[in-house]
Amino acid sequence: MLKISPSILAADFTSLRSEMADVVRGGADWLHIDVMDGLFVPNISIGLPVLESIRKATDAFLDVHLMIDRPRRYVQAFCDAGADLLTFHVEAAQPQDITEAIAQVKRAGKKVGLVLKPRTPAECLLPWLDTLDLVLVMTVEPGFGAQKFMEDQLPKLRLVRRMADRAGLHPDIEVDGGITAVTAPLVAEAGANVLVAGSAVFGKPDRAAAIAALRNACAAFA
Ligand code: DX5
Ligand code: ZN
Repeated sequence: MLKISPSILAADFTSLRSEMADVVRGGADWLHIDVMDGLFVPNISIGLPVLESIRKATDAFLDVHLMIDRPRRYVQAFCDAGADLLTFHVEAAQPQDITEAIAQVKRAGKKVGLVLKPRTPAECLLPWLDTLDLVLVMTVEPGFGAQKFMEDQLPKLRLVRRMADRAGLHPDIEVDGGITAVTAPLVAEAGANVLVAGSAVFGKPDRAAAIAALRNACAAFA
């Protein structure tokens, strides 16, 4: 089943409660929350206090994308602050810390995923693939919204889907960056079933129509 996860990075932060309510009413399945530390990516966004407020303001499933260095230091705090799914980057930590961070999220009873930057090969997931609820394939360089979709990530998406199938695993496969009604069918065909969309949802006046347009564009693959 196709899921749409609007990224609040493209919302009006001064009206976050109503912005979130608007997309949930408009048919969003999850809310995507981008956490940036100014080190792992060259931008700073939001952190724990904002997530805590969001958790109080909505019952929606919170898909929290950590773009931070050495995420193990913070996974417990983000679970406690209300994440339902926590994803962090395979490039951001040493292997033993990734293993431990995954275990910590699971112990907290939350879902866990690993993220691949565009230049990171799919094979980097292999040591952890059987422990993951979700794999997130970036389709832009992380750090900023409203960038151009990288079509050269489609083969990697297909490979992740094939690796999971071969191992008899069924993780959700999420894509993030440059997703629009034009690019959505490309990623859905390649195996993605969770679409993050920032500007393509929050950037439009009618969010319900924007979400419906993404879904309709993928109707052949959902
Ligand atoms: C980029 C973030 C994305 C971003 C997507 O680093 O991880 O979630 O908000 O924005 P759009 O959909 O506008 O490309
Ligand atoms: Zn993101």
